[in-house]
Amino acid sequence: MRRGKAALADKTPQNGAPLLEAKNLSLSYAGKYAFRDLSFAVREREIVALLGKSGCGKTSALCVAGALIPPSEGETLFEGETLRAPTPKVSMVFQEPNLLPWLTVERNVSFALELKSLRVAKKERKERVAAALDEAGLAYAAKRFPNELSGGMAQRAALARMLVRQAKLTLLDEPFSALDAVTRQTMQRLLRTLMRRHSASALIVTHDIDEALLIADRVLLMRSSGELSEWNVNAALGEEDERERRSAGFLDLREEIAARLD
Ligand SMILES: Nc1ncnc2c1ncn2[C@@H]1O[C@H](COP(=O)(O)OP(=O)(O)O)[C@@H](O)[C@H]1O
Ligand SMILES: [Mg+2]
Repeated sequence: MRRGKAALADKTPQNGAPLLEAKNLSLSYAGKYAFRDLSFAVREREIVALLGKSGCGKTSALCVAGALIPPSEGETLFEGETLRAPTPKVSMVFQEPNLLPWLTVERNVSFALELKSLRVAKKERKERVAAALDEAGLAYAAKRFPNELSGGMAQRAALARMLVRQAKLTLLDEPFSALDAVTRQTMQRLLRTLMRRHSASALIVTHDIDEALLIADRVLLMRSSGELSEWNVNAALGEEDERERRSAGFLDLREEIAARLD
């Protein structure tokens, strides 16, 4: 069957329904703004990078967007409703993998499903854990403890814990910044592949332009003035998963964004 242009357009993540909407969010600590008047949306199936220099308020913005911290002003809508408390529909991944040292990798991943409120039966839990470890490339290390893992493996465990939750949206705070360059690039590709495979959305905070361009469909640059600049990466570099760091388009876009970083 031939698909018309409209059908194809509908499949691009930028055309999905808004999942998370940040509306004029501000946060102040003791009267000083961590960030101010921030508005943006993350749509269904879309991967958005929130890029900015260290100290510009990215972590604060992510915590407020996920309702871990209440905003000083503004609100976050999730599927059209005000988000006042963390929800299982949104998962978080931090720079540190935050694994419990006394549990095996498998139990660490399973732990994310053991909350009574989630009501996941034991059999289903086992199946979901096995599938998540497999997708994260960590099935072979299921029985190991966190102190037996490399940094990259520990972050794979964190990704497995994210996958097992089957959340619609994941908020990630510089998840790969502690990894060596080669491992980091592998993990960036893996994240994009996994998000696409599950038709899931992500908002990833980073200070690294290359990371934003390798992972995201759209880049939002947080400037010190508080305003956001936006780039549609898919329009510039294409949708394919294997983005080429050395392509002319990539280098041009990187330069353009770097010039706006203040
Ligand atoms: N718990 C806190 N108490 C007071 N000030 C904070 C706190 N957390 C962050 N800040 C301040 O808010 C600003 C933004 O911090 P942060 O969100 O961590 O930025 P980023 O993640 O972009 O590096 C910084 O000036 C920081 O010092
Ligand atoms: Mg931070």
